[in-house]
Amino acid sequence: MIYENKPNLTNMTQQRESLLSIKNLRVWFELRRWGFGLAGHVRAVDNVSFELGRGEAIAVVGESGCGKSSLMKTLLGLYKPTSGDITFEGKNLKDFDSEGMRSYHARVGYVQQDPFGALAPFLSVERILEEPLIIGGVKSKEERLQRIKKVMQEVKLMPFEDFLGKFPHMLSGGQQQRVVIARAMIMEPRFLVADEPVSMLDASVRVEILKLLRGLQTTHNLSVIYITHDLSTVSYFSERIFVMYAGQIIEKAKVRDLLDDAKHPYTVALLNGTSEPDANNAKTFKEVPPGEPPSLVKPPAGCRFHPRCAHMIAGTCDIKEPEEYEPTPGHFVHCWLYDKKQ
Ligand SMILES: Nc1ncnc2c1ncn2[C@@H]1O[C@H](COP(=O)(O)OP(=O)(O)O)[C@@H](O)[C@H]1O
Ligand SMILES: [Mg+2]
Repeated sequence: MIYENKPNLTNMTQQRESLLSIKNLRVWFELRRWGFGLAGHVRAVDNVSFELGRGEAIAVVGESGCGKSSLMKTLLGLYKPTSGDITFEGKNLKDFDSEGMRSYHARVGYVQQDPFGALAPFLSVERILEEPLIIGGVKSKEERLQRIKKVMQEVKLMPFEDFLGKFPHMLSGGQQQRVVIARAMIMEPRFLVADEPVSMLDASVRVEILKLLRGLQTTHNLSVIYITHDLSTVSYFSERIFVMYAGQIIEKAKVRDLLDDAKHPYTVALLNGTSEPDANNAKTFKEVPPGEPPSLVKPPAGCRFHPRCAHMIAGTCDIKEPEEYEPTPGHFVHCWLYDKKQ
């Protein structure tokens, strides 16, 4: 098992130079009802701030629909923020013109959940991998082929002659995901988002794909955000973990600190609900606290978790949004229980 040889990741986070800085980010989608016009907004991401270090890997966990993919697509420049700032290598994405945005897209890679859906069915592997190079201005056919071969070697699609002419439907799920990863890596990005990269793959190939991503991260000093439901892979893959709830990041900590000493009642409930092993004996966020996740159109006042929280302080949690507290160094939580004045 890969998880037995965990890389030593302690104390790697603090000293790092920041690659990506996110401040008060909001991504709201307009909700339109036919015949009635604008009926409100889906607040998919609501006031999110964090820093991602160069070469750092962060895992993001949270129930389905809490805004993980919307946050990632916005960081990748695919959605425009409603408000707030995203700064990459010191430059605000707001200031990029179309050329600036194009070169930003080349510095970031995206590995989605569903590899087949991510690949154009009528393009061969060669064409899929050549396209970003053409868009990126690599004019020489020979150079493009060299770079395709190099990246295919890295993702272990070998021998490459066997794969260049193949179409996505001729490949297994694991091979398709290797093509998606090759496409994400071909422009030598600084930052990679892996959005549940193995959840749709057979259990037998999951470990191999995670190993591959982990290897690429260390060889290229890539910054990675890894979205997952699988807690057993989190500590293998990342140094810090963020917990999202209803469009917000409610807890941020080093993986070990969070797993050993979760602070937010929501995180505690999630961890308590993970004792039931699934088919692969992996801990997953299957069971969640009682009650429904809130509407993102009209989220509860105060702390969004308060209607489901066993520790709710009436008159506070249901009225005022909690600030970010740091009860132990490097461990951040948005919860009134950690306000010293309470
Ligand atoms: N393009 C979009 N237009 C409108 N609503 C969207 C769009 N993308 C996501 N949403 C809504 O935003 C919320 C968060 O979705 P998403 O970011 O996909 O969550 P997750 O990835 O955590 O499952 C959901 O309510 C979803 O329906
Ligand atoms: Mg998603």
